[in-house]
Amino acid sequence: MEHSGDTTGRTAGHAADRTADHTADHTVEIDPARTAAVVLVGGQGSRLRPLTLTTPKPMLPTAGVPFLAHLLSRIAAAGIRRVVLGTAYRAEVFEAFLGDQATGGLEGLELECRPEPEPLGTGGGIRFAADALEPGYDEVVVFNGDILSGVDVRAVVAEHRAAGADATLHLVRVPDPTAFGCVPTDDDGRVLAFLEKTLTPPTDQVNAGCYVFRRDVLDAIPSGRPVSVERETFPGLLESGRRLQAHVESSYWLDLGTPASFVRGSADLVQGAAPTAALPGPVGTALLLAGAKVAPSASLTDGTTVGADVQIGDGSRVSGSVLMDGARIGDGAVIERSVIGPGASIGDDTVVRDAVVGDGASIGASCELLAGLRVWPGLVVPDGGLRFSGGA
Ligand code: GTP
Repeated sequence: MEHSGDTTGRTAGHAADRTADHTADHTVEIDPARTAAVVLVGGQGSRLRPLTLTTPKPMLPTAGVPFLAHLLSRIAAAGIRRVVLGTAYRAEVFEAFLGDQATGGLEGLELECRPEPEPLGTGGGIRFAADALEPGYDEVVVFNGDILSGVDVRAVVAEHRAAGADATLHLVRVPDPTAFGCVPTDDDGRVLAFLEKTLTPPTDQVNAGCYVFRRDVLDAIPSGRPVSVERETFPGLLESGRRLQAHVESSYWLDLGTPASFVRGSADLVQGAAPTAALPGPVGTALLLAGAKVAPSASLTDGTTVGADVQIGDGSRVSGSVLMDGARIGDGAVIERSVIGPGASIGDDTVVRDAVVGDGASIGASCELLAGLRVWPGLVVPDGGLRFSGGA
């Protein structure tokens, strides 16, 4: 895992309009016999605990399907067929996903999991996963498995080829670059440096977690030990004079690493603000999965997802939230920008705002869960047992 001061663009950054910058304004067809993809999904997702205690981050239900399904739908749409998932933490969950015949939208993709014997970090994970690729693939597009992005993958590949680069990074411009390491470039889009976080960053461009590698460059990453692509591989390539190109694109971009960005990303998918071909229903203000029972007097707004067999009682208001399968919401409850884990229950008149309720937790009536609170799985809170105010 990477931590503060890195260049992975960790927190929410979001822009609707595409700007040209020094981005190549052309695109290419991707030959599926030559270009493959690696998706990094082996991280622990510690910032999303307790949701990630059982389900790895890329497998969390996001707008009704595992987040990974949205990403894979974008990879398939770009024309890539061969995809290796670099797994480490809870690798078996990914194996089960690929083995599940009911998993839709993956037709035409040749998918494989490659579990690391020990977590190898981002660079080590890329190298290990790419070892599974047949020799004919001389170009590999790498995706962080927790980024929701509208990046034009074909345009990144076009930029890479036009520059004759060893590797090309998608960079995104963020409103507050002080929160990130940054990646300055010259007028031709050549990467000049990888800089740590600073209060006076020289650019607002940050690493967006999508790269194109020439195969031989990727094969030169050391094997058998943890390697950080951001801290070791890219700086090492620069030092040795290799050509690193940037593709700066301001399409939709969001790192789903925190509860706040997770609910926002899910709501953006439901409402059609974030691109996907894997939404299991029409774009709208809310998405309801099979067996959901919502009282007619309840309201669902701002891209809420109501999972399978969820029940919502009279007069409850749910906005911009993710209610996972089997959750129960009583009468008169208010749920805003929150995640209610699978099988969890929320009592009558309880308010949950900007909070996470873990799997199977039971929250009594007239509670208030606010401001980043996280309830661990299975916890039982009695009626009125948790409040931020004195109550009525
Ligand atoms: P946090 O623990 O909340 O920081 O999340 P994370 O574990 O996902 O870490 P981070 O966001 O830095 O990871 C960026 C991407 O790299 C994610 O897609 C991770 O799944 C992936 N990743 C991180 N470490 C490893 C690893 O050791 N092996 C593999 N295969 N992928 C990794």
